[in-house]
Amino acid sequence: MNLSTTLQETRRLSRQARSRGAKLGLVPTMGALHEGHLSLVRAARNNSDLVEVSIFVNPTQFGHTEDFAKYPRKLERDCELLEREGVDIVFAPSVAEMYPSQNATWVTVEGMSDRLCGKSRPGHFRGVTTVVAKLFNVVEPDVAFFGQKDAAQVAIIRRMVRDLNLPVEIEVCAIVREPDGLALSSRNSYLSAEERKSALVLYRSLMRVHEEFARGERDSAKLIASAKQEFEQKPGVRLDYFEIVDPDTLEAMPTITRLALVAVAAFVGKTRLIDNIILEP
Ligand code: PAJ
Repeated sequence: MNLSTTLQETRRLSRQARSRGAKLGLVPTMGALHEGHLSLVRAARNNSDLVEVSIFVNPTQFGHTEDFAKYPRKLERDCELLEREGVDIVFAPSVAEMYPSQNATWVTVEGMSDRLCGKSRPGHFRGVTTVVAKLFNVVEPDVAFFGQKDAAQVAIIRRMVRDLNLPVEIEVCAIVREPDGLALSSRNSYLSAEERKSALVLYRSLMRVHEEFARGERDSAKLIASAKQEFEQKPGVRLDYFEIVDPDTLEAMPTITRLALVAVAAFVGKTRLIDNIILEP
């Protein structure tokens, strides 16, 4: 496995691979890898000849009051895991390497970037699309893998790829969960034992909506009201949003007549967690 920390070396390794006709798969991550990330790596392994994983805690997608400084960084352990998965190249640049001088150019998917997490984290998706576009330019992957866990991120990246005619295919992998339903996240490591129990409220609220939908309810306002009841009288938990939207445009869907994305974000203590399900009429 090659570990590269520079743009130049990464570009060289990627081009070398592609000149041999190998199909190159990229898995962008911020590290502190868990089984969710590894499911993407395995999908890439199955789908591509050569697998590259980027590990970069991207400062531009964090707000000033957010957890950029304390975000878990475990490069050595991550590399061991990736070596075991048969990854070919790990790209782990420094902030100075990725953003060498004052960054003046941004990639923004307008409108969509202000919905869901974009509403409570202004500038977050601009940071995501900018860094993902930069990674695509450096690595030049044939295909890139993203998790459904970040459903809005998937929709926005797909839109960027379409709007900018980027020559990359986007593959989306299912959410990997703990046995009790909690979606795996690098941020779960922030949770105390008590908060870990409270964190299940996100999944429970989604399951409640799923059950009522299965019984025939199609009115989003009613489904959302019912989900919000799960969050009442939960000490230490603060709901950020609970929405039912079109999975491609992220626009609100008042009545569920087609595929719908049910997305939730909540603070458990100081930790902000997200989760979602898809409803299919
Ligand atoms: P990060 O949070 O490290 O996630 C990297 C990828 O792993 C994302 O595509 C995410 O959706 C996926 N992932 C995380 N938890 C998952 C789970 N439980 N099941 C399935 N997939 C999961 O998302 C980012 O990093 C960044 O925004 C990035 C795209 C790397 C840009 O900086």
